[in-house]
Amino acid sequence: QIIPPFKNEPYIDPSDPEVRSQMMLAFERIRSHERNYDLFIGGRYLSTESKIVSKNPADPDEVVGTVSKATREIVDKAIDAAYFAFKSWSRMPASERVVPFLKAAQIMRDRRYELDATMILEVGKSWIEADADLAEAIDFLEYYSREALRYGQSQPVVQIPGEYNELRYIPLGVGVVIPPWNFPSAIMAGMTTAAAVSGNCVLLKPASDAPVIAAKFVDILREAGLPDGVVNYVPGSGSEIGDYLVEHPLTRFVSFTGSKEVGLRINELAAKHQKGQKWIKRVILEMGGKDCVVVDETADTDAASTGAVASAFGFQGQKCSAGSRIIVVREVYDEMVKLVKQKTEALTIGDTTDPNIYMGPVINESAVSKILRYIELGKKESKLITGGNRLKRRGYFIEPTVFADASPTAAIAQEEIFGPVTAIIEARDFDHAIAIANGTEYGLTGAFYSKRRDRIEKAKTEIHVGNLYFNRKCTGALVGVQPFGGFNLSGTDSKAGGRDYLLLFLQGKSISEKI
Ligand code: SER
Repeated sequence: QIIPPFKNEPYIDPSDPEVRSQMMLAFERIRSHERNYDLFIGGRYLSTESKIVSKNPADPDEVVGTVSKATREIVDKAIDAAYFAFKSWSRMPASERVVPFLKAAQIMRDRRYELDATMILEVGKSWIEADADLAEAIDFLEYYSREALRYGQSQPVVQIPGEYNELRYIPLGVGVVIPPWNFPSAIMAGMTTAAAVSGNCVLLKPASDAPVIAAKFVDILREAGLPDGVVNYVPGSGSEIGDYLVEHPLTRFVSFTGSKEVGLRINELAAKHQKGQKWIKRVILEMGGKDCVVVDETADTDAASTGAVASAFGFQGQKCSAGSRIIVVREVYDEMVKLVKQKTEALTIGDTTDPNIYMGPVINESAVSKILRYIELGKKESKLITGGNRLKRRGYFIEPTVFADASPTAAIAQEEIFGPVTAIIEARDFDHAIAIANGTEYGLTGAFYSKRRDRIEKAKTEIHVGNLYFNRKCTGALVGVQPFGGFNLSGTDSKAGGRDYLLLFLQGKSISEKI
């Protein structure tokens, strides 16, 4: 079978009447179906008494689905099932392992409206954000399948007389995948696929705010013919099974995307050797960001303010890549403040089943409390220029909020808020702007708007982030195009959607034969 070169999946057009009627139909279908999802372990569905109830953040009275919760005993069973599957899966040639993932990508295309609609209802994505999330998930399946084929080939080594030498990449074993709720399809499917298509077996613990879309993905893998036990679906609470999975002596690796606090805790727990454990666990962490959009006095302020607003408020600012700091050089500061305020006030906010809505709800009540706490802090530390309130309606809606005159060291300019809040900071000049940009503990994404070539070149070296963009927004990395991952406390610099990523799930075996 010949696989064509990788190409990014195109997006739907929400203004197309056919797209609109398909999506409306998808909402209706989802809402009229029985929505219980079971654990999936070793190819068998398993129901438990205790449930996670996944609710629509735009209307928490609407249940999107109930999902069985795993216990520690069930986790033990899932680990056994995964090791049983590993015996044959790890030995299967890459050309066979990729087949179910490529089929699954096709099923996802076929079920696109249903999956988009599920994300819109489960986490409050707008149509565009939901479809970009799904397209990215499809991209990850396609891209990592091709990467698995590349790593499955014999690797270049130097030959010497009298010996035949070879380097093979082999999988690690059974690992735990803990994805976030904010890219509930893309990151969840990407992390799972990368680990599994490399020959590992996986326990997938979905985010408790987005377990339904993950259950659908696991079911798609089953339908696509993924062998039993390769991907096991084990939802549950962090306290009941999260630590247990990470600390388990048979866990070989942990792949996590989420907050800095949880990531650091996982790193610590995984580092401790457990009785009977035969390896040092590999930990792949993708954590937070305090990302910046930097604007100098030569920039096109119209484009820069549009980019800054999109970076700050796309998916309600709930992205590790969100532009939560706008750093502006003095000469254009007042103009940028005015434009950002104007463009923020033009954003629509509401229930995102309506295709015309740009911003939906934030994920849950505790996110509302955290974001409002930061807004109160922001009011003391700097100047609120727009937003700042929770909407007086059902659901978790917070106005897009902009602070100006923020000090670079203020809490709202240092800590990840993960909501629709951004802070504008004034810089004396370009060098000062770069110093501010680098002045946090993170280093994930950054954008720089300028017309000066010398500054762009200098910024390429000096702005210390994993994903750096010029004259465009700092969100929306594309698989294969902009491998994604950051420096410092943003994570282990694992570049998702890049050529190094699969190596994180592999180990090299040198084989030498005297001839
Ligand atoms: N990859 C996403 C982006 O670039 C964030 O996870 O926005």
